[in-house]
Amino acid sequence: MNPNNSNLSSHREKFPALANKAYFNYGGQGPLPQAALDAIYKSFQKIQTDGPFCGKIWPLVQEETNLTREAIASELNVSPETITLTEDVTVGCNIALWGIDWQPGDNVLLSDCEHPGIIAAIGEIQRRFNLEVSVFPLMETLNEGDPVAAIEKHLKPNTKLLAISHILWNTGQVLPLADIVKVCHQNGERPVKVLVDAAQSVGVLPLNLAETGVDFYAFTGHKWLCGPEGVGGLYVSPEARKDLSPTFIGWRGITVSKNGQPTGFKTGGQRYEIATSATPLYKGLQEAIALHRSWGTAEERYEQIKQLSAYLWQGLSEINNVNCLRKTPPEAGLVSFTLTNGKPHKDLVDFLESRGIMVRTILDPDCVRASVHYLTLESEIDRLIAAVKEYS
Ligand SMILES: Cc1ncc(COP(=O)(O)O)c(C=O)c1O
Repeated sequence: MNPNNSNLSSHREKFPALANKAYFNYGGQGPLPQAALDAIYKSFQKIQTDGPFCGKIWPLVQEETNLTREAIASELNVSPETITLTEDVTVGCNIALWGIDWQPGDNVLLSDCEHPGIIAAIGEIQRRFNLEVSVFPLMETLNEGDPVAAIEKHLKPNTKLLAISHILWNTGQVLPLADIVKVCHQNGERPVKVLVDAAQSVGVLPLNLAETGVDFYAFTGHKWLCGPEGVGGLYVSPEARKDLSPTFIGWRGITVSKNGQPTGFKTGGQRYEIATSATPLYKGLQEAIALHRSWGTAEERYEQIKQLSAYLWQGLSEINNVNCLRKTPPEAGLVSFTLTNGKPHKDLVDFLESRGIMVRTILDPDCVRASVHYLTLESEIDRLIAAVKEYS
């Protein structure tokens, strides 16, 4: 047992949403800690008391923005100047997708496990810039096969970008990011850049992004990090930044002359930030990150997630009429399973919700997904297993 487990109950009491349900939807949205809610309210109140628009407030806005960038950067093990603050994962992906200097005929490679919002954005850049898009089969490597070899096989001389998730949102598979980046950067004459959808990995995996060599890594604070909805980020490596133009542009990303005229873009990731945001939300994400750190290191949190998801996987695997997509214990917190007796998955999800147990359906592959966090209790998992058994 993790040494920090003894204080898990009191730690969980800091998350109001966890008090009255068995929560397994962290991959959709994490519960916000009370300290984050309080900090958000206090920050709004201060802005309204002292400002809102005046000299006393500017340094505060600047400071909160910088502190948030620093807190995120230290979770990702990168320097703060590589971080762009965004609203969510999808905005970060769009900054990378629209900022590349596309030429007609360039190829974009993506897996068959990407999120519909990202697929749609790639569909639109394909139409606008006359690109070629190829989709390679990744789902079939969940239990056997080599995802890196599958990618390598589908890279072409004209491939300019690979768009891929670090943890697949549907099956929970964790991909070997450093190896993927390596084969992409070594592809023939022209290195292929790698855009990662990190919706399901930030707040789960211990990360050292600089070591992976990844070009673009888009994430959010409102899922596994349990921050407020509305604050996310994008990491762009210093090398990749040289070729990535800002698409949406505003005062926050530019430099100005003494007489207020735009003179260029800021040097770091700030160049992709646009304009006014809700600064109090930044405070909320900082509080959430600090709270996770007070419980354990990134490694300790990940180990706990793996132990608990293995426990859920084992329990579900023993139920007749239930098939876990993975044939071995999960590598992270997502546990996806199907009912083999033909009952609709949506009905199971509704049944569980009526029992105060929150999971979700996934459409492709048609399955039910439970997210296990380090905050999850074994007793919650027991409740989920018993309810699935009862229904199935
Ligand atoms: C893999 C993946 N990508 C993108 C998204 C969209 O996230 P956001 O709303 O933060 O843009 C999600 C959310 O469910 C996701 O799981």
